[in-house]
Amino acid sequence: MTSTFTATPFVGKTFGVTVANLTKKYGHTTVLHDINFEVKPGEIFVIMGPSGSGKSVLLKQIAGLETPTSGEVRIGEYDAADPATRDKVRLALVFQAGALFNSLSVYDNLALYPREHRQCNEAGIRDRVMHALQILSLEKSAYDFPSELSGGMKKRVAIARALVMEPQLLLYDEPTSELDPVMSATLIEIIATLREQTAVTSLVVTHDRDLALNIADRIAIIMDGRIRATGKPADFKQPSDPVIANFFNPVIDLKNPRFKQLENSHE
Ligand SMILES: Nc1ncnc2c1ncn2[C@@H]1O[C@H](COP(=O)(O)OP(=O)(O)OP(=O)(O)O)[C@@H](O)[C@H]1O
Ligand SMILES: [Mg+2]
Repeated sequence: MTSTFTATPFVGKTFGVTVANLTKKYGHTTVLHDINFEVKPGEIFVIMGPSGSGKSVLLKQIAGLETPTSGEVRIGEYDAADPATRDKVRLALVFQAGALFNSLSVYDNLALYPREHRQCNEAGIRDRVMHALQILSLEKSAYDFPSELSGGMKKRVAIARALVMEPQLLLYDEPTSELDPVMSATLIEIIATLREQTAVTSLVVTHDRDLALNIADRIAIIMDGRIRATGKPADFKQPSDPVIANFFNPVIDLKNPRFKQLENSHE
């Protein structure tokens, strides 16, 4: 990470998150089954799980973008599903695909939130935007449009935009996917440094083992829409549960590949 990185100090408090008996169905399909966990204020909590296990859906319920079928999510004392909660908690969600406004330049994407919320004058906004772009090595792309950027660059812009919001709760969906190894390492350092300097609660959804083991205070493993285990990173260095062990350290067996096993099981 660059030595110039300092997180913008934010005013106010951070929030813990409580997920209680949360079930989410789409039609007749249940995607999340009775999920329970608690994220303490200031914690870095990582939710890990295979593709399709329900991580993004879970994050959408926490961010209040969707409403659980039953159960609830509380952000501090507020109900995440209540639209009024958005006025009380500065929540930043870094979407898996970036979710940038294609008609706005990188600069204007970042400036949107402080402008709309009249957080400071244009000069102040400029300082904050350029600082965030510098942290993510994006200064040269300030006036590019999202369509001109690579996938990894879009991801970095989305993270820079979250930093500019000075969030009180940070939610990341796959922050390191599409990034090269050096940028992934930088990202891991940024998430950790942000939490260190601002004590902001950070909830990270990922299948990146390095990310989880390096910065999590606690990890929850989600599989098929159910929490399979929760613990500290050390608990997952040599997991006794063979399913979790295989998820963390999948064996690559070229003589007996998985897709052949699948073919055989259908015969
Ligand atoms: N709006 C929706 N309607 C119906 N099914 C959905 C909807 N959104 C997600 N799903 C289903 O829910 C399941 C979990 O999806 P989700 O996007 O949460 O997976 P994920 O763990 O984030 O996977 P990945 O690691 O690939 O991002 C999938 O089977 C998906 O098809
Ligand atoms: Mg996802």
